[in-house]
Amino acid sequence: MKIRMAIVMMALGLIAVAITACNHTSAEKSMSQDDLIARGEHLVRVGDCGICHTPKTMTERGPVEDSAQLFAGHLKSDPIPEYPAEFLANSGWMAATNPSMTAWAGPWGISFATNLTPHQVYGCGAWTETAFINAMRNGKHLGNGRPILPPMPWQAIGHHTEDDLKAMFAYFKSIKPIENQVPQPVPPLSIEKASTE
Ligand code: HEC
Repeated sequence: MKIRMAIVMMALGLIAVAITACNHTSAEKSMSQDDLIARGEHLVRVGDCGICHTPKTMTERGPVEDSAQLFAGHLKSDPIPEYPAEFLANSGWMAATNPSMTAWAGPWGISFATNLTPHQVYGCGAWTETAFINAMRNGKHLGNGRPILPPMPWQAIGHHTEDDLKAMFAYFKSIKPIENQVPQPVPPLSIEKASTE
C-alpha cells in the first residue's frame, strides 16, 4: 500500500514539474517586444558585432565605434584601400583591415561588413527573420545565397538558440536605419587580374 502511495506521489510530482516547464515556455513566448529587443541588444553587445559592423573613429585610446553610424557597415564614403597583395604574400600576416575595421583583405579577396540597420534597400529592412537565422546557421548569404566570407564569424553566431537569434534580429530591426550601400566583395581572382593588367 505504501509503495503504491509513493508511486502516486511521484507521478503527481512529475506532472507538477511538467506543468511548471510548460508555464516557463509560454512565459518566454509571451516576452514583450521591448524585452525581446533588450535581450537582442545584450547579445549583440556581448557578441561584439560592432567591432566589424560599426565604423570607427580613431582616439587616443585606439579605434572607437562611431555611435552615429551604429551598424551602418562599411561606409560607401570610406575609401577602399588597394588590396595589400605584397604585404599579404610576404609579411607573414594573413589579413589586413582598414581604419574603420569594416573592410577586410585576405586570401578571400576583400569583404565589407554588411549594413545591419533596418534600411529597406541597403540594410536588413527587407530581410525575413528566417533568412537571418539561416544565414547565421549555414553561412550562406540570406540563408541560401553565396557563401558568407571571412572574417564574419557565422560559425560561432549560428550556435545561438533560435530564440537568441530572433532577439538579435529584433534588435537590429529596432535601431535607426542608415542609408549606406555597402560595396560588393572583391573576389581574389579580379584582384590578381587587376594587378597583372
Ligand atoms: C570580425 C568581423 C565581424 C564580426 C565580429 C561580425 N561580423 Fe557580421 N560580417 C562581417 C563581414 C566582413 C561580413 C560580410 C561578409 C560577406 O560579404 O560575405 C558580415 C556579414 C554579416 C551579415 C550578412 C549575412 C548575409 O546574409 O550576407 C550578417 C547578418 C552579420 N554579419 C551579422 C553579424 C552579427 C549578428 C554579429 C555579431 C554577433 C557579427 N555579424 C559579427 C564581419 C563581422
